[in-house]
Amino acid sequence: MGFLPATSNKTLMVSIFLLLAISMSNGQNTAGAPSIGVCNGRIADDLPSEQDVVNFYKINGIGAMRIYDPNQFTLQALKGTNIQLILGIPNAALQSLTNPSAASDFVKRNIVSFSPAVKFRYISVGNEVKPTDPEAQFVLPAMQNIYNALVSANLQGQIKVSTSVEPTLLGNSYPPSAGVFSEVARPYIIPIIQFLASNGAPLLANIYTYFSYIGDTKNINLGFALFTSPGVVVQDGPSGYQNLFDATLDSLYSALEKVGAANLEIVVSESGWPSAGGTAATVENASTYYKNLIKHVKNGTPKRPGKPIETYLFAMFDENRKGPAETERHFGLFSPNKQPKYPIKFV
Ligand SMILES: *[C@@H]1O[C@H](CO)[C@@H](O)[C@H](O)[C@H]1NC(C)=O
Repeated sequence: MGFLPATSNKTLMVSIFLLLAISMSNGQNTAGAPSIGVCNGRIADDLPSEQDVVNFYKINGIGAMRIYDPNQFTLQALKGTNIQLILGIPNAALQSLTNPSAASDFVKRNIVSFSPAVKFRYISVGNEVKPTDPEAQFVLPAMQNIYNALVSANLQGQIKVSTSVEPTLLGNSYPPSAGVFSEVARPYIIPIIQFLASNGAPLLANIYTYFSYIGDTKNINLGFALFTSPGVVVQDGPSGYQNLFDATLDSLYSALEKVGAANLEIVVSESGWPSAGGTAATVENASTYYKNLIKHVKNGTPKRPGKPIETYLFAMFDENRKGPAETERHFGLFSPNKQPKYPIKFV
């Protein structure tokens, strides 16, 4: 049944499954945004042009997009579209942005010059930077400098500065109420959380039940990962968990509460399921995952019931230059020729 074995050390097992399992991003809804966005990754050599892709978002009625760098063609194409945007700053650029004048130039060039024609919503300063990565020391200073540059342009009220994390920051996640940041993550993430709280910005998180599942197929039920369990799988005090997505998100909420940030919101900045290339990666399972995810996020989690979770599906297209795992190349909702792999509706 559940995602854990009958072991005396559930804490350890869950840490292990999260470590093995989850590698990409996560989130929740503030006013004015559609619940569902789609990530627009371009690590590929066979994709439609940036303008074509933006048109394709419009044709499909997708109201929000995440990009991973300030691609000038994409920003140009987004002008006047009303598509809400998460603009990513690549990890490799973080060190340079610890220089305030470089951050100010970045904001002028890539944000101020396109706003308000482009609807910037969040700036993700780095993606999945781990506490032990060499870039970790640059994340908060870069966030502060980008924030200060937005203040100079009087845009800090509408454009929020954050960073995308992965649930491996948790040292424990089972049951969700026991979620807590790991010792190694605490000195990295707590000052970032304080920064977010003081600026009214959400934490962005990439959440992949797929990686949890393939990391421990013996103990994690496929239905728990795909939102198809017929009933509660994990009972945690008053909260019953029928899917691993909610369980993971609520573990993060529990960890935030324990560091005094109970009011911080989480936006799921990536979530998805590959359609080929590995265990459980089939068109049918991917179709099931996205269909159920889109339906599910309208309702919130057991800890945040009734509040739609702002969620960015990963990703619009297959990216043939990604890796190393074969599955990394098969997260697209669409093939590069714009054919859907399965029927999908974004509302
Ligand atoms: C979904 O994944 C499971 C686990 O790998 C596999 O056994 C099953 O055939 C897949 N289901 C479909 C409908 O593709």
